Formats: sequence, C-alpha cells, structure tokens
Amino acid sequence: MISLSVNIKETEKSYPINIEWDSISSMKEKIKSFIDGKNFIVVISEKVEKIYGKELGFNKEEKLVLKDGEKHKNFKNFEKILKFALRKKLTRKDAIVAIGGGVVGDLAGFAASCYMRGIDFIQVPTTLLACVDSSVGGKTGIDTEFGKNLVGSFYQPKAVLINSNFLKTLDERQFKTGLGEVVKYSFIEKSCLCNEELHLTNFISDNTEKILKRDNLTLSNLIQICIKLKTSVVEKDEKEKGLRRILNFGHTYGHAIEQYTKYKKFTHGEAVVEGINFAFKLAVKKNLIDKNYKFFADDIIKKFKFREIPEYPIKKLVELMKMDKKATSDSIVFILPTDYSTVEAFEFTEKDLLQ
Ligand code: NAD
Ligand code: GLY
Repeated sequence: MISLSVNIKETEKSYPINIEWDSISSMKEKIKSFIDGKNFIVVISEKVEKIYGKELGFNKEEKLVLKDGEKHKNFKNFEKILKFALRKKLTRKDAIVAIGGGVVGDLAGFAASCYMRGIDFIQVPTTLLACVDSSVGGKTGIDTEFGKNLVGSFYQPKAVLINSNFLKTLDERQFKTGLGEVVKYSFIEKSCLCNEELHLTNFISDNTEKILKRDNLTLSNLIQICIKLKTSVVEKDEKEKGLRRILNFGHTYGHAIEQYTKYKKFTHGEAVVEGINFAFKLAVKKNLIDKNYKFFADDIIKKFKFREIPEYPIKKLVELMKMDKKATSDSIVFILPTDYSTVEAFEFTEKDLLQ
C-alpha cells in the first residue's frame, strides 16, 4: 500500500489517501474503518455497480445507483442524493461514500457538503481521472445550462481510497481521458512546488508501455506522483486564490470545447489535451517558450495517441471562455507554459485572442 496525506495548514484539514492494488473485495472493510460504526450511504456509478457491485458487497438498501457521464452531473442527481440521505435519516455524524468516476465523486461530494451543512465524505475513485485528480483536493460541484462546475463547493473528503484494480475495466477511451490529466501534471510539475523531484515526464517516457498495459504497480506509482503534485498545490492554496490555478492548465480552452460540443463528442481529458495543445501554440506565438519545447511536448502527448479534435470557430469558443470561472468582465485567464514543466497565468482580452 502507498500511503499519502493532504495537510492543509490554513484550515487544519488533513486526510489520508491510500493507494492499493489488492482484491477489491477488501474495499468495504477499508471504507468501514473510516466510518467508525456510523450510518452511511453509498453513491455508486451504475457501471461500477454492474461490474463490482457483488464484489464490493454493500446492501441494496444502503446504495444509490446513479447513471454517470457528464450529462448526469446535474441538479436532478444532486437532489436525488440529498433525498436518499434524508430517507435514510442520515444525521450530521454520518457519512456519504462515493464510488465511481469524477462525475459521481463531484456530485456526491457536493451533496455531502450541503447535507446538514456538511457530513463526512469518502472518495473511492474508479477512473484514472478521478484517481489522479478529481478525488483529491475538495472541489465538488455540478454542471448547469450556463456552464460546467458553476455551482459547487470546496469540501475536503475524510479519506480517499484508491485501488488500481478498478482501472482494469475502464474502456480505452476513459483510460486515455485520465492520461490527459496525467500529461497535464507533467507540464506543470515544477510550478507545483513539491518538495520532492518526481520527474513525471521521465516516468511517462520510461514506462509508456507499462502504463498502457495498465500494470498495477506502474499505475499505482503514476497515481502517486500525480497526487503528490496535486496535494503540494492544494496544501498551499486550497481555495484557488492563486497557485491552484495552475491545475487548470489546458482547461480554459478545454472547457469551451466540451461546452461547444455539448459534452457529447469528447471526454473531459480529450478536451484538456486539446487545451494543452492550444496553450503551447499560444505560448509560442507570445514568445514565452521556444519551438523546441513545443516539439518536446508534442512528443510526450503523442505517446498516448489521444483522439484528435477538429478546429472549432475561435469566436464561438471565446464567447464560452468568457463564462469561465477565472474570467473577468474584460479578460480571460490562460495558464501557459513558460519553461520546461513550468507554467504561469496570463490574462488575454477577447481582441487579443481573436487576433
Ligand atoms: P465519469 O465519472 O463520467 O466516468 C467515466 C465513465 O467511466 C463512466 O461511463 C463510468 O460509468 C465509467 N467507469 C467508472 N469507473 C469505471 C470502472 N472502474 N470500470 C469501467 N467503467 C468505469 O468521468 P471521469 O472522467 O471519471 O470524470 C470526469 C468528471 O470529473 C468531469 O465532470 C470533471 O469536471 C470532473 N473533474 C473534477 C475535478 C475536481 O477537482 N473535482 C478534477 C477533474 C475533473
Ligand atoms: N482539477 C483542478 C483542481 O482541482 O483545482
């Protein structure tokens, strides 16, 4: 087992993140050890329930099975979770457990943060994206017709319990979407200010085949590196007042792509990779990096053969980017590369971008 933790000094919040690769049938006991005999409900993805329901062994009455995929990260499912918890008479001392990808984790986390003004919440991420990113750091929320994640809260889980065996059944596309976030970390590593040198870019280059074959130990080490980078950032800036913005590398443009294509054509990770490509092009245009770094980045990205995304009308995308949470009335914030594994935030006006 790999044991990590998050320790947020400002608010004195801390919690363990355990990465394991033993049998999934032991997960229930591990979850229960963090619940301490209290009452709980399990919010679980429909697909994960189908594949792992029996092995996980929770009773029907304690489970709320939700359809996942971006279009289900909505008010309706948020309400469903709250009403289920109310029907089960959860009290302030009880807990909500999320078992699934980023959609179920974000939804259940948001519900946990609102139920009785906040009850314990345990994340059991079952997609690569959720393991390396969404289950850690406390961002929760839902999408609305006005945009992605515009309603939500910062609410840290009580524990994050990862088992890389879950990743064996992810379809190729969902596995690659997680690799999109992994690639993101490799380009922001130095800016994460982690006190350990992790060399994620080298790890990706040296282990590409093993990663793609989903070798358990390689994936667990990969997840460990990404989480160390993420926790380093979250510990310094939980509420995204500054440093945490770097985690949005590739996201400003990526979110616009997702929105323009109505969340139907591309996964989050695919859109983020396109956002990273856009950020590298913009950085070359603005002379922030030389072309060699862009070629180097292209090579890293090509290793995972991500789905290609066509060019959409920039005017329409800019309109959508103006709705980004980081945008102000007259500028859009982009995280751009400035050196190897280093990024910074830059503001652009609409006119700048259209040029
Ligand atoms: P998802 O939750 O929709 O899961 C993707 C698909 O994988 C679903 O169809 C699901 O049923 C299936 N699945 C899940 N686990 C599986 C398994 N073990 N085997 C087989 N299939 C499985 O999507 P996602 O990519 O995990 O998460 C995307 C969401 O995460 C987006 O809404 C994004 O905004 C959010 N996100 C949040 C944060 C954060 O900090 N909170 C960070 C990054 C992304
Ligand atoms: N995924 C971006 C963040 O957690 O801040």
